[in-house]
Amino acid sequence: MDINAIQAQIESDVTKAASLPELEELRVKYLGRKGLIADLTGSIPGLPVEQRGTLGKQVNAVKNRVLELLAAKEKTFLIPGSDLKKREFDIGMPGVAQDLGGLHPITLVTNEICAIFRKMGFSVIEGPEIETEYNNFTGLNIPLEHPSREAFDTFYLKDYAKMLLRSHTSPAQVRIMQNKKPPLAIVVPGRVYRPDAVDASHSFMFHQIEGFMVDEGIRFSDLKGILELLAKNVFGNDIKMRFRPHFFPFTEPSAEVDISCIICNGQGCSVCGRKGWLEILGSGMIHPNVFKHVGIDAEKYTGFAFGMGVERIAMLKYGINDIRLFFENDLRFLKQF
Ligand code: DAH
Repeated sequence: MDINAIQAQIESDVTKAASLPELEELRVKYLGRKGLIADLTGSIPGLPVEQRGTLGKQVNAVKNRVLELLAAKEKTFLIPGSDLKKREFDIGMPGVAQDLGGLHPITLVTNEICAIFRKMGFSVIEGPEIETEYNNFTGLNIPLEHPSREAFDTFYLKDYAKMLLRSHTSPAQVRIMQNKKPPLAIVVPGRVYRPDAVDASHSFMFHQIEGFMVDEGIRFSDLKGILELLAKNVFGNDIKMRFRPHFFPFTEPSAEVDISCIICNGQGCSVCGRKGWLEILGSGMIHPNVFKHVGIDAEKYTGFAFGMGVERIAMLKYGINDIRLFFENDLRFLKQF
């Protein structure tokens, strides 16, 4: 038996080991219960007495050498100064590309509109989606017998009779004016809910942006100027606007605002129903009763308010003909923005 050859073999095996598991295999192979050292030790009693001592010492030396080699090699697989394994990784392996997300078109349009108002000095504030019946209706001068108060038009919370999912962003006017006093210039973006049957132009959830300005001497012409700036920024400088008298309980006088049809330039087409005009929002001068509800002196202050549907504006701006596209999470649609 050539102890030197055995030792040389062991040294070369350990040097070649490329990982901790391979090293473990070698440990078992040499030091295990049925390993090489155990074999050699087991053969000693069968030898002539005078050889036993020499072989015993040699086997012991080999065993110590193996322990030494394994310990030294093991260190090369560990983080220096610790017993933590170095990460085994392949720097040649191609990386996994991350899918980059983007902002939803409704978020883009909301951000764009809020940015326009910020430039004009408005603050952006959000209100809660669960509102009181008072803020959603009473505080806004919508009387008890008004049809939109019926449960049919509003999602009420089952166990909280006077709580509901806001059906418009206007309750934020009440909330904010109860806590802040004029001068005020505020826009409120957010989700609103109505129990409408879903079709190409209706959704039970959609987005609005409310806006209002209150101070001494605020006039209807201020409303017109601000909305004209908005329309031109969103739809381009060639856009025309018109104010149509309308009724809202929380404003007096009230107006619906149309822009000249961006598809046909006011000539009349299927998108504008041959009218040449597209309705984009409701607005008016804040009703004195609303001021009374929030404790603002209607003799001293005046203000305007407006509310617009974000989906509607996004649909006009991007030429989208079905509101459901916004909520289906189809990446082929969403990736276009
Ligand atoms: N809240 C109204 C709606 O959801 C929109 C609206 C109209 C808001 C006139 C206003 C306003 O602030 O003055 O239909």
